[in-house]
Amino acid sequence: MRALVVDHSAPGRLALGTVADPEPGPDEALVRVAAISLNYGELPTNTGAAEGVVPGWDAAGVVERAASGGRGPQPGDRVVTRGRGGGWAELRAVHVDELAVLPDAVGFTTAAALPVAGVTALRALRVVGVRPGLRVVVTGASGGVGRFAVQLARLAGAEVYALVGSAARGEGLAALGADHVLTGAAEIERPVDAVLDNVGGPLLSELLGHLAPEGVVASIGATSGQPAPIHPYQLVPNRLTLRGVKLGDGIGHDLAHLVRLVADGRLEASVDRVADWSEAGKLATALLNREVRGKAVLTIG
Ligand SMILES: NC(=O)c1ccc[n+]([C@@H]2O[C@H](COP(=O)([O-])OP(=O)(O)OC[C@H]3O[C@@H](n4cnc5c(N)ncnc54)[C@H](OP(=O)(O)O)[C@@H]3O)[C@@H](O)[C@H]2O)c1
Repeated sequence: MRALVVDHSAPGRLALGTVADPEPGPDEALVRVAAISLNYGELPTNTGAAEGVVPGWDAAGVVERAASGGRGPQPGDRVVTRGRGGGWAELRAVHVDELAVLPDAVGFTTAAALPVAGVTALRALRVVGVRPGLRVVVTGASGGVGRFAVQLARLAGAEVYALVGSAARGEGLAALGADHVLTGAAEIERPVDAVLDNVGGPLLSELLGHLAPEGVVASIGATSGQPAPIHPYQLVPNRLTLRGVKLGDGIGHDLAHLVRLVADGRLEASVDRVADWSEAGKLATALLNREVRGKAVLTIG
């Protein structure tokens, strides 16, 4: 089958190649992939993956063969899937606990954007105990995780502060539900209850000074690539909690929840770029250069 493989000499370190078909285990369905999405954390530039590896967490398509163990969707079912790799290919073997069946109303391009970014945002909001009236900051709000976090926080009744790198990067966030779109922590006028942090570095350090007593930080990622110095005086007197977020396995139920929200018109997948998968390197480079607002999706031609 054809697949996107790591090629360190190619633009974006990705190239189309030919690899062996996957062999599904007893709890895995075989899916013919129609669309995939790119996540910052899986790009070969960031992972340093070996030459020839097929990356790919998010993929949507049609079940070709049901899991031999008898669980999960049946041939012909349209599904969105998530795995730890191997999704950027014509065929994916996926565990039946890592997928959701799609209603006709949700297209493959939209669905492919949901798994890692959407479910991470959902789970990070659970970590901070999202609830009506919670004042929550989302950093890197312009990105994939960020745009889902803004929408899901607002749906849960929170007051949302979307932090972005520039006014242009903040475009569209108010329409998605951000109450405040800010380009720096200094613009936060009164203490917030929670931070969902995608950026890390000095921005995270600065945000600690804007947290209310008992405030919670959910650390999702560190796109800044910089350390975040923390002075104990920021933690001890205010009893702040700093928690790491890990997507983890078994995301099928959460994914199905997001699919329902999309089908009901309550959640937008924020697909900013769609291209044929032969353009993968170009799109990966755009994502790394902070040119994508939301998600970048590739269709399998
Ligand atoms: N813990 C987990 O399980 C998990 C799951 C998914 C993702 N993640 C992590 O969460 C973070 C966000 O992922 P994502 O998919 O949303 O990424 P993304 O779409 O690329 O968005 C990241 C955002 O970070 C901001 N940013 C600030 N400084 C940056 C820099 N120096 N380089 C690049 N971006 C910078 C950008 O916003 P501005 O341009 O507006 O500043 C960008 O929109 C990543 O670190 C990723 O690895 C973790």
